[in-house]
Amino acid sequence: MKLLPKVALGLGGLLVLIQVVRPDQSNPPVTGEIQAPAEVMSLLKRSCYDCHSNETKWPWYSQVAPVSWLVTKDVNDGRKHLNFSVWQGSEEGRKLKKFKEIAEEVGDGEMPMAIYLPLHPEAKLTPAETTLLVEWARRDGAPAP
Ligand code: HEC
Repeated sequence: MKLLPKVALGLGGLLVLIQVVRPDQSNPPVTGEIQAPAEVMSLLKRSCYDCHSNETKWPWYSQVAPVSWLVTKDVNDGRKHLNFSVWQGSEEGRKLKKFKEIAEEVGDGEMPMAIYLPLHPEAKLTPAETTLLVEWARRDGAPAP
């Protein structure tokens, strides 16, 4: 066999082999979902919930290694930092800190993560939607008078 077909066959075999390493892509129960005005909720669901909630949608390509490993890592990291599904259970100080971070990350265009957008163009926020989210996070994140 020529070298190129050999390499292709080898790579193909490797791709099949690595499929046995399946990361845990479960969605834990929603125990205390964040409360927000309807238009804010729909933005959070559209742009953030895949990584910052327990209601992640796992499309087929997210289940194919090695993409599955990268996607699962982002979701686990995302949930660890900020999880809108268990929000009510966290303490007030943490919530205020998270609101501040949401205003910062979204305001700077750091979230939703850039790597996510090519396959999820619907998650992109318009300037008006960015302002809406930032203002909500600033308002709800302001310490009670
Ligand atoms: C593709 C997955 C993904 C999406 C979609 C996403 N995030 Fe994130 N987010 C992450 C990951 C991973 C981290 C942790 C690592 C980092 O800071 O880059 C993070 C970190 C954050 C942080 C920082 C929290 C901390 O503790 O420092 C905030 C705030 C945040 N995201 C808000 C949002 C908001 C709001 C949206 C929607 C507008 C969003 N993210 C969409 C993956 C995502």
